Amino acid sequence: MNLPSRITQDIDHACLVLQQGGIVGIPTETVYGLAAIALNAEAVARVFLAKGRPTSHPLIIHLSPHDDINRWGIINESAHVLANALWPGPLTLLVPRTGLVPDWVTGARDTVALRIPAHDMTIALLNAVSDAVVAPSANRFGQVSPTSAEHVIKDLGDTIDLVLDGGPCAIGIESTIVECTSSTLQILRPGKVSALDIAAITGLSISEMKGPSRAPGMMIAHYAPNARVELCTSIGEATARCDTYVIKGVAAEVLHYEDDTTYALCLYDDLRSADLRGSSVVLAVLPPDKGLGIAIRDRLSKAAAPN
Ligand code: TXA
Ligand code: MG
Repeated sequence: MNLPSRITQDIDHACLVLQQGGIVGIPTETVYGLAAIALNAEAVARVFLAKGRPTSHPLIIHLSPHDDINRWGIINESAHVLANALWPGPLTLLVPRTGLVPDWVTGARDTVALRIPAHDMTIALLNAVSDAVVAPSANRFGQVSPTSAEHVIKDLGDTIDLVLDGGPCAIGIESTIVECTSSTLQILRPGKVSALDIAAITGLSISEMKGPSRAPGMMIAHYAPNARVELCTSIGEATARCDTYVIKGVAAEVLHYEDDTTYALCLYDDLRSADLRGSSVVLAVLPPDKGLGIAIRDRLSKAAAPN
């Protein structure tokens, strides 16, 4: 496999590949996605196949700021306010779908997930394609999401046509998913946009996600490296447990950042690096349960869940 030839910065080339029914890794501010034209059933089927993902797990439709979101979803007042305030950005809105949205995108649900990502290259690509794309995270199903073009190639290799290299992702974890199907709002997946942000923007109260998510595919075990992830509540606990493992000859390492922005940015690359180093155990220190820390705790808990 010739790796460099699958990675490109040529937006026109990526556009052509998509328009010809290809599947392309695309950069976003959260994680890399695996894009296909949403209305092309065969291309979307290839996305499910490349990821090894069940076709019943719905996909997010990604749009350009120039697209008319009303073609795809029924946008109520709070969805409208959130979209205006936060798009392009790390927010996915779950809304009732229109007749345009095919069953192969939503797994025949009556809702659709929509997002306008904040990445100049991907916005330029979407404008060039002038068609919406689906884009799940560009990793094998259940594994760690990719935050660089190299991660995408390592995970999906020659099952995909191309990766548009837009550099490392600026945030590092997936978008916040907010359900806006009624007058109440609900977070289905925590992300950089927090419940407090949403409450401040909409004036509505919204609770942080508690318990298992109702978004299909957000099952308990997810985002998992090969190494076993163990959760620790302090750096002291993590270091002590790590030392005990090392004394016993087990390859173990500590994962911790004081700053949540850095934690999110490095999380998936660090989990991947732990596998490359052959570590058996990652002792991850949980950040405080607020802001971006809530999303990091969610991903770490899923990475630590038994398969
Ligand atoms: O940041 C992100 O959102 C990234 C980048 C590439 O945009 N995408 C992403 O897609 O994380 P994915 O497919 O890995 O995760 C999307 C989640 C899945 O758990 C899926 O089940 C849920 O969104 N979802 C999508 N459409 C849905 C629907 N109609 N109803 C309920 N959940 C839905
Ligand atoms: Mg994913």
